Amino acid sequence: MKPSIALLVVSDRAHKGQRQDGCETAIRAFLRRNGHTLAEVAVTPDEMDSIRSTLARWADEKRYHLALTAGGTGVSPRDITPEATSPLLDRELPGVPEAMRVASMKITPYAALSRGVAGFRGGCMIVNLPGNPKAAVENLETVFPALLHGIAKAHGDMSDCVPPPA
Ligand code: MTE
Repeated sequence: MKPSIALLVVSDRAHKGQRQDGCETAIRAFLRRNGHTLAEVAVTPDEMDSIRSTLARWADEKRYHLALTAGGTGVSPRDITPEATSPLLDRELPGVPEAMRVASMKITPYAALSRGVAGFRGGCMIVNLPGNPKAAVENLETVFPALLHGIAKAHGDMSDCVPPPA
């Protein structure tokens, strides 16, 4: 199945238009290289209600298969994306952010500071990515095959779990 994918950029500065956000471009390019597109992109400030209501609407009403967030996973005072996301999840996927952090530690020791979470809200998989465009793609590419497989399984794929070639 071809999943519908949406991206929520979480950034006060991008929302105010003070900074051109490169995340959308970088993630769009990664997805295009892998034969996928973005169904929707939104930019929100680092505000609990705004992050939460957008993700809830995408999961419950728009029923996207995959909702990516980019930004707000770190330890700055305004970084609240994991706290906004966690209560929305009815099934957590701890292995997804664990895998991203393990792979990213080979790139930068600061990878341990990303507190992103992942899981399902109904049939929508939500995955927090860091906000730097390069970091977002590095994290996404580590887990992307697993995300696609997980989405297919969550939507009833009964076939054997044959891993893709390395
Ligand atoms: N992961 C990868 N692969 N590459 C990176 O450059 N940057 C780290 C980390 N994860 C990084 C990374 C840094 S510096 C921070 S502060 C955290 O992600 C949190 O980023 P965020 O607050 O933009 O979400």
